[in-house]
Amino acid sequence: MTGTACPGTATARACANIALVKYWGKRDAARNLPAAGSLSLTLGALVTETTVSFEPALAADELVLDGVTARLADLRRTSVFLDLIRSQAEIRTRARVTSKNEFPTASGLASSASGFAALAVAATAAAGLALSPRELSILARQGSGSAARSIYGGFVRMHAGHEANGSDAFAEPVEPIESRLADRVRMVIAVVGGGAPKSHGSRDAMDHTAATSPFYRAWIDLVPGDLAAAERALAAGDLAQLGTLAEANALAMHASALAARPAIVYWQPATLALLAEVRALRDRGHAAWATMDAGPHVKVLTTIDEADAVAAALRAVPGASAVTISGPGGPATVTA
Ligand code: DP6
Repeated sequence: MTGTACPGTATARACANIALVKYWGKRDAARNLPAAGSLSLTLGALVTETTVSFEPALAADELVLDGVTARLADLRRTSVFLDLIRSQAEIRTRARVTSKNEFPTASGLASSASGFAALAVAATAAAGLALSPRELSILARQGSGSAARSIYGGFVRMHAGHEANGSDAFAEPVEPIESRLADRVRMVIAVVGGGAPKSHGSRDAMDHTAATSPFYRAWIDLVPGDLAAAERALAAGDLAQLGTLAEANALAMHASALAARPAIVYWQPATLALLAEVRALRDRGHAAWATMDAGPHVKVLTTIDEADAVAAALRAVPGASAVTISGPGGPATVTA
């Protein structure tokens, strides 16, 4: 893996993902190593496209996000990430990075997972590095833990690993043969709050939970069993088992955050109304199980046959500002 003589430009696309067994806590913050494994579904409707251009004339890295010059904090995080690639490619050239989220609403769904996966794939290609998917996953993880999973399509599992250098903390796809569900699942995404910026970013919130929540240890102890059960459900093609597990796991993650001091509360009134509607849908015999990340939005796991009915029910909930149906997405790829 050596750098080419003339680094250039590349564009990549990556999808966001939603965890069904959540990543919430680190074993090493400096290397961004997760404290436990996780399991996700890559979402085809939420795509980030990123172009990286290494340009000798640049004195500093530049970052434009959705047409706007990025905030200094975002630029710094991008530069630190690009430094990993520069050191591997043995180049010093600064880069112009242009990234846009092709998300169905302009709405608080913006994802560091698709962002760092697209950046990892575009920047390594532009730097002339040919990395394997596993190497890309390890690299993307250093930008954002959830980005390690967005290198792959479909159902994806992330390993916490044991090595201090993170060489075994990578994601890999759940093989289709192990998952009879990949073709028939859908995720219905209900946006709450019109896309206002979230109260606490996931990075700070998980650190605060780990540092102060009396339930953090219980949460971390819960994850391996949930992961094993989720993998059994995937292997059996049992969506009800997977959905039940995913909903319980998301609520347990939020319980650990709610118990932090001071508390981290992502929920808004519409969040609770949506969760109640998901339970009501189940009571009426529909396949619908909720999950939530570090924000007020509710994402509902369902089937291709039931997605329209679930979306219609969620649209009728006051405070749900936009509802979108997503199928599974594919792996992160270089497009130009
Ligand atoms: C709630 O991947 O954003 O979405 O590694 O600090 O960048 P960092 O965290 P990030 O955390 C994602 C948290 C989550 C759960 C998940 O995606 O598994």
